[in-house]
Amino acid sequence: MKIKVRVPATAANLGPGFDVFGAALSLYNEFEAEYVPEAKKTYFTLKGAGKKSLPKCEKNLFWQSMRKTFKVLGEDKYNLKNLNITVNTRIPLSGGFGSSASAIVGGIVLANALCGNKLDKTQVADLAVKIEGHPDNVAPAVYGGICVCSKDGDHGTVVQLPIPKLKVVLCAPAFELRTKRSRQVLPKCVDLQDFVFNTSRVALLTAAFCCSDFALLKAGMQDKIHQPYRCKLIPAMNEVLDAALSSGAYGACLSGSGPTLAAFCNAKDAVNVQKSMIKRWKKDSVRAKAYVLDFDTKGAVAI
Ligand code: HSE
Repeated sequence: MKIKVRVPATAANLGPGFDVFGAALSLYNEFEAEYVPEAKKTYFTLKGAGKKSLPKCEKNLFWQSMRKTFKVLGEDKYNLKNLNITVNTRIPLSGGFGSSASAIVGGIVLANALCGNKLDKTQVADLAVKIEGHPDNVAPAVYGGICVCSKDGDHGTVVQLPIPKLKVVLCAPAFELRTKRSRQVLPKCVDLQDFVFNTSRVALLTAAFCCSDFALLKAGMQDKIHQPYRCKLIPAMNEVLDAALSSGAYGACLSGSGPTLAAFCNAKDAVNVQKSMIKRWKKDSVRAKAYVLDFDTKGAVAI
């Protein structure tokens, strides 16, 4: 039996929706496993972006997620000594594309499929959140679309917002920033005025997607909770966001915990937005690569 799943990239936070909002995007990792009962060891093949850098052992996040899922399902037939696994990583690993979330969701969905899909989507998402810690990257990777996520103990509620007819430009500078580092710079407490600011922006962001009123995205993607702190780790971050807005983007923000930046625009403006972001970063001697993506509507699926 051979099973293959694909899992989308994600952009988390979407500005003010820190740890709450996330969107699935049309860039995918593929995970494949074949059950080989007579095998004495697992064959683990890595392709794509992670070919050289990702571990081919128990340290691999995808591998750990598979193992945890088998444990949850009480399944010992698959002991990770009798599987032929291939992982093709197309999602960049530099940060802000949800590559870790993709690995976690890929491991759970693949292990669940090998065991006859005993977990439903809600259980898959809850397990992914338990492994990852924050729901805003993993929920869209499971469900697709734009997700609003809340967490209550071990269970999460996820609501999908209407998918806008917009392109998403993800612009990644040529350096890595790990989420752990990007969370270390955040304050422990939030100022009341900043809290009110963010609450109002989250309301505008929700209204922008629900009413297809994209002019609201400029204000709706403003944030005072995490971006002002994280910009110290990302040279010219605010200038690149401004460049995206000046060249036609409705809204722009840090993608997840960065260093990638996201801009939301009409298809006709996407190339301009892409070029302006790269050009602005270049002015500060930062090399960058941009991807023009659509929203993914399906989330993790068997292919
Ligand atoms: N909400 C998370 C953060 C996304 O901003 O730290 C990265 O996992």
